[in-house]
Amino acid sequence: IIVEWDKDDFSMKEYDHYMLKEIIEQPKEIKKTLEGRLTENSVELPELNKLLTQENLQSFKKIDIVASGTAYHAGIVGKKVMETMLNLPVEVSISSEFRYEHGPLNEHNLVIVISQSGETADTLSALKEAKANGCQTIAITNRKRSNLARKADYTICTNAGPELAVPATKAYTTQITVLLLLAIVLTETINGPGIERIPEMIKELEQLPDEVEKTLIMTQDAIDQFAQVTEDQESLFLIGRGLDYVLALEGALKLQEVAYLHADAYASGEMKHGTMALITPGVPVIALSTQKHLRDKTISNIREIKARDAFVIGVTTVGDDDISEIVDEVMYIPEVHPFLMPIVAAIPLQLLAYYAGTVRGFDVDRPRNLAKSLTVE
Ligand code: G6P
Repeated sequence: IIVEWDKDDFSMKEYDHYMLKEIIEQPKEIKKTLEGRLTENSVELPELNKLLTQENLQSFKKIDIVASGTAYHAGIVGKKVMETMLNLPVEVSISSEFRYEHGPLNEHNLVIVISQSGETADTLSALKEAKANGCQTIAITNRKRSNLARKADYTICTNAGPELAVPATKAYTTQITVLLLLAIVLTETINGPGIERIPEMIKELEQLPDEVEKTLIMTQDAIDQFAQVTEDQESLFLIGRGLDYVLALEGALKLQEVAYLHADAYASGEMKHGTMALITPGVPVIALSTQKHLRDKTISNIREIKARDAFVIGVTTVGDDDISEIVDEVMYIPEVHPFLMPIVAAIPLQLLAYYAGTVRGFDVDRPRNLAKSLTVE
């Protein structure tokens, strides 16, 4: 019996589908994820108190992040952020791979497992493998009383309320939120307070629910319109660099799950090594450009694709007119800290999958052949 949620949390309210409700309610859920964890200049995760000593953390030589599906994509964001902030190697693995094949594991590895349900069999087996090799383990889950939460050494709950649609949406954004909080506490414990970029990240995290709300308002109607053109499409590409590439992977997964589109994600610079052969006139390509330091390179990749007459939809931050001039359609989103962009920019991609799925007549809450939680391997 689930006692951690109210009856009200299970209602579809005025929405046509749980998926839409869960997309729209992300500002509120992210606020719950952050609640009590942000102080003026720091982050508090008391659930990790025993782990968070400098001596303990300095004994770790590597962090492993392990998860499946959407949680794996959140994990890649976590890897990129933590590696930059902590100056430690961070590897991210798919649970079903990690449980059979992994690099050296011992007490010097900190293993972070991520799972919305906390019941995914592959992730539970990966946790068992990590523990059997003497690693310290942290679970990031939405279910406090799940198997994963009970078996890991430490648990951080995303507090996002029940996610009932099979495609994960709020699970993804709240998992990344927790990974950012975790990156901050680990960095501060290892290096001591006063790290230059942290107060700025904290300020931006406080604003995050409002920025996500703004993004919903800015993009929902335009995406609904645009999704109509996907009705007769069979395939679509998403491209991006750095954190935008991770975002492209998650956007493609959503379009596959919900709209049954053959959607593929590519690192922008990799297109020319093969996939460019599939770019023919009219093929839709979503070009993501939310990372300022990679913007110029992305622009030249977009030009290469436009030269093959693809139909390019740019997703970029407000005011980036250079992108809007070279694409067919542009979707503007608010600019936030680069590490927070994968949360804000996920919103238009989730909405696109939702509206493309409904216009194509599919059951977006219960896609064919998929289950919310896979408790068998
Ligand atoms: C299933 C769901 C996905 C989800 C994955 C991992 O395949 O359909 O949406 O991302 O499991 O689920 P978890 O509960 O471990 O996050």
